[in-house]
Amino acid sequence: MEMNFAGRDQLIRSFDAAIGAGDTVQVMRALRSALCDAIHAGDVQLPDCVFEGNAEHYARRELYRSPEHGYCVIAMTWSPGQGTPIHDHAGMWCVEGVWQGALEVVQYELREQAGSRYRFIPAGVIQAGAGSAGSLIPPHEHHTICNASASELAISVHVYQDQMTHCGVFEPEHDDWYQRHEHTLTLDTPAAVDH
Ligand SMILES: [Fe+2]
Repeated sequence: MEMNFAGRDQLIRSFDAAIGAGDTVQVMRALRSALCDAIHAGDVQLPDCVFEGNAEHYARRELYRSPEHGYCVIAMTWSPGQGTPIHDHAGMWCVEGVWQGALEVVQYELREQAGSRYRFIPAGVIQAGAGSAGSLIPPHEHHTICNASASELAISVHVYQDQMTHCGVFEPEHDDWYQRHEHTLTLDTPAAVDH
């Protein structure tokens, strides 16, 4: 499901232009710029539902899916205390911009893999504030995200290479290994939070 909102067409035009920027690294750079420019310019008014958290889990709402290029734009709403386990992006690149509040992103480097068991080492922590954007290019795609604030809502906008319906999540085991589980990603609809 797609949503209409002020500034949407211009935002999508800037993403479409970025997709044609060249190789993956250049596309990531162009998308980060487009996203940061949009946040700083303040011309885009995300749909009202995006500003509503979901008490059960961080909320994912699809803003747009490109019929021409295949990329998907998802808004995520993080209530205080909400975050993700270590996860991958099913092999897709992704650009993530912080629209409001702040997120803590921990990047993990894959050290070993044995079947569905994985071992990681933390490779850096970023506190990403509003107006900043980062990108992930597989295979460097393992990370956690959480709301960096104990009291404020955080909102991020993610541009994925393609529709992401599932990803791998990694559960810690008794040693320093993790077990990969296939996780189905769901979308929150406006109806679920708009009363
Ligand atoms: Fe992620």
